[in-house]
Amino acid sequence: MNIPFVSFRPMEQELNTELREAFDRVLTNSWYILGKEDEAFEKAFAKYTGTKHCIGVGNGLEALEMALIALGIGPGDEVIAPSNTYIATVLAISYAGATPVLVEPDIRTFNLDPSLIEQAITDNTRAIMPVHLYGQPCDMDPIMEIARKHDLYVIEDCAQAHGALYRNTKIGTFGTASGFSFYPGKNLGALGDAGAVVTDNDELAEKIRAIANYGSDYKYHHIYQGRNSRLDEMQAAFLSAKLLHLDRMNQERKRLAARYLEGITNPQITLPFVPEYANPVWHVFAIRCDKRDELEEYLKERGIGTNKHYPTPIHMQPCYKDLPYAPGDLPIAEEISRTQLSLPMYYGLTDEEIDYVIDAINSFK
Ligand SMILES: Cc1ncc(COP(=O)(O)O)c(C=O)c1O
Repeated sequence: MNIPFVSFRPMEQELNTELREAFDRVLTNSWYILGKEDEAFEKAFAKYTGTKHCIGVGNGLEALEMALIALGIGPGDEVIAPSNTYIATVLAISYAGATPVLVEPDIRTFNLDPSLIEQAITDNTRAIMPVHLYGQPCDMDPIMEIARKHDLYVIEDCAQAHGALYRNTKIGTFGTASGFSFYPGKNLGALGDAGAVVTDNDELAEKIRAIANYGSDYKYHHIYQGRNSRLDEMQAAFLSAKLLHLDRMNQERKRLAARYLEGITNPQITLPFVPEYANPVWHVFAIRCDKRDELEEYLKERGIGTNKHYPTPIHMQPCYKDLPYAPGDLPIAEEISRTQLSLPMYYGLTDEEIDYVIDAINSFK
């Protein structure tokens, strides 16, 4: 059996007619940037997340970066981010001109450990950026409590967790602003690059919308030195079509995850831990194994694709060699990058395929 790490095919086949209709609608309309498809998607996604505003932007990285900039965070400011995340979280902080301060995750949840945040706060700290990694919500109550106590902004990185719930509340609604990515492989993915910021703050929404559109408040009038980061009409139309199926497709991921959780019994494997507050959407099904690289090879020989999220932690990336961390300084992030393996997880995986992966893992010595 051949099981790729990810495939969009089953979803694309099922939604083929709707996606083609979306394409035809935009082509017929002959309008490609900042139009009614963008408006309609923004409205629908704001409703979906339970926020007042959604601003469609070019991608998830810029969504986070513009949220920081619009909040006035820049040079001399520090922003706390998890040491175990995709590099985009930290790049957003750097692009804003601020300094990333990395805080270790809880190894069981892979997410920011709230008990380690306060010791990283200095006079220069302006914000905390929790990342709901792999589709698992962060422990938001203590994070929000710390933010209130120290008067810090919270900007949620929701790139991997569309629809995930923390104590029955959608992620993306806790922070002052939240960034989403609609990279094709995300739970809600466009057919190209796309992203969004959601917020309840009217002023902030207006500012981010202006920054994303050359800093202009009205045509040919520029109040900020903005940039071009807009959600185009074609991607907005595809996203509107796919949003209608997001909950159902997330539900299916949950079913597949439950099958993995029940089926994998090999004692060498640490399964993902789901705390009582979490209702995750399983963007990634992340296991840990001391012999991770051998397991990866073993699965590959059996036709099973896997991935590592992420093989090199941020503080050991060449581009961040100037951050004040040496190898060994963030041992949990390093342990995760050494032992973590992501199993196939996507809409359309069959029970037979999941069971094949489970059997292969259980037979690994
Ligand atoms: C945690 C996280 N943050 C931010 C991003 C950035 O999103 P994008 O690729 O749309 O720029 C991604 C995805 O790539 C991500 O996984």
